[in-house]
Amino acid sequence: MEEHEVYAVVGNEGFERLVAAFYRQVPADDLLGPMYPADDLPSAEQRLRDFLIYRFGVPPTYIEQRGHPRLRQRHAPFPIGQRARDRWLNLMNSALDQAMLPEEVRQLLRAFFASTANFLMNRSGEGTT
Ligand code: HEM
Repeated sequence: MEEHEVYAVVGNEGFERLVAAFYRQVPADDLLGPMYPADDLPSAEQRLRDFLIYRFGVPPTYIEQRGHPRLRQRHAPFPIGQRARDRWLNLMNSALDQAMLPEEVRQLLRAFFASTANFLMNRSGEGTT
């Protein structure tokens, strides 16, 4: 499966299920919960959903494939070290399972989220979040 085929398979609906399953886990998470706006999670959910639909929707956007510059800037306020990266991916991978997307789509999105999360890390070293 190629990136440009994902949207045709899962549609808005698949991304909605995925992001809803992700944000359901956020409030109870001791590490990530406090980073997200507790009183405005529905807006945060909408931002991630819109981004994914934009990123995987048609027509494909070449700018995003060249490094997500604004995404990195927008994550600068949040300390993202190894633990936060791992936790975010754990939550997203379990959301991917809950959303019941086809296995090929899951594999592709797992790889996409992992590389984007690596790219968004802005802390390094032992003992960092
Ligand atoms: C690596 C660990 C990550 C952490 C700790 C993290 C944390 C956050 C937080 C706290 C927000 C603010 C919530 C809001 O009000 O929108 C946010 C926004 C966002 N995140 Fe992440 N994130 C991570 C990885 C990712 C990844 C891998 C992606 C994409 C694949 C992503 C995409 C987004 C998007 C699109 C927004 C909204 C940006 C905007 O328009 O303002 N994040 N993230």
